[in-house]
Amino acid sequence: MEKRATSVETLLFIAAIMAATCSPTKAAESTGSFGDNFNIMWSEDHFKTSADGQIWYLSLDKQTGCGFQTKQRYRFGWFSMKLKLVGGDSAGVVTAYYMCSENGAGPQRDELDFEFLGNRSGQPYLIQTNVYKNGNGSREMRHMLWFDPTEDYHTYSILWNNNQILYFVDSVPIRVFKNNGEANNFFPNEKPMYLFSSIWNADDWATRGGLEKTDWKNAPFVSSYQDFNVDACQWIDPYPACVSTTTEHWWDQYDAWHLSDTQKMDYAWVQRNLVIYDYCKDTERFSTLPKECSLSPWD
Ligand SMILES: *[C@@H]1O[C@H](CO)[C@@H](O)[C@H](O)[C@H]1NC(C)=O
Ligand SMILES: *[C@@H]1O[C@H](CO)[C@@H](O)[C@H](O)[C@H]1NC(C)=O
Repeated sequence: MEKRATSVETLLFIAAIMAATCSPTKAAESTGSFGDNFNIMWSEDHFKTSADGQIWYLSLDKQTGCGFQTKQRYRFGWFSMKLKLVGGDSAGVVTAYYMCSENGAGPQRDELDFEFLGNRSGQPYLIQTNVYKNGNGSREMRHMLWFDPTEDYHTYSILWNNNQILYFVDSVPIRVFKNNGEANNFFPNEKPMYLFSSIWNADDWATRGGLEKTDWKNAPFVSSYQDFNVDACQWIDPYPACVSTTTEHWWDQYDAWHLSDTQKMDYAWVQRNLVIYDYCKDTERFSTLPKECSLSPWD
């Protein structure tokens, strides 16, 4: 316990240095209203917007949660949004923010997940990421964050091209998932995906493996969103054509196929300090580690 306190202090110190030295990211431009980009998936009455329409709120109570999804599907690009998570005692509450090739949990789906696992007041939120290809996930990582995600909006983004998938928190890549270029491999690159977010109850597993149950006295639980930013290839049916939303395609050029030097430093810092669980290190679970675990994130 002593040790944990010390490492948290170190983290805060490092975070302060990073905040001071990292150049500020450019403000994301809003790409239209909620209704231009999204549909509500379920329980419209658990969705609200601010008076100016710029902030969106999803709420969870004992009856139900709520979720939205993009109207469009995309294959490759940059996907970004600011989220502020449920504060206070949020044990058992999960906010999912993810991309998926289907709007259900179909057996053949591809999926890229961010899941925010609520916790008791004052206890750290964990962020879980996962990658699915053809319905097979089991590629979880869990990270601590270097800030309290319930206090302010932070940007959570996915960069997806045929060389790598990066999961970003603000400007920091917390996870790198590489493609080895072989046909029929584990890298999701064939199916276009929608982007989703939802809030739901998972007190059967989310907090301390399901030991901490949701305290419904604190309902409704609300997660907030703003600044959706997509710069990607939009998929047009019935032909498998892909129309880019910009002409530049910066997200699929050489610089976006590898970590930059700054990103390498940030990623190394995350690897050293914030990783709680990495399936690629879980030799109890996998007698042979999944193939992609041998790919270097530094290449
Ligand atoms: C909640 O807080 C406890 C105590 O610090 C921690 O062990 C746990 O990993 C946290 N997160 C979740 C999702 O249980
Ligand atoms: C799913 O992926 C894991 C990790 O690579 C692998 O061990 C498992 O065999 C896969 N399952 C199926 C049904 O393909």
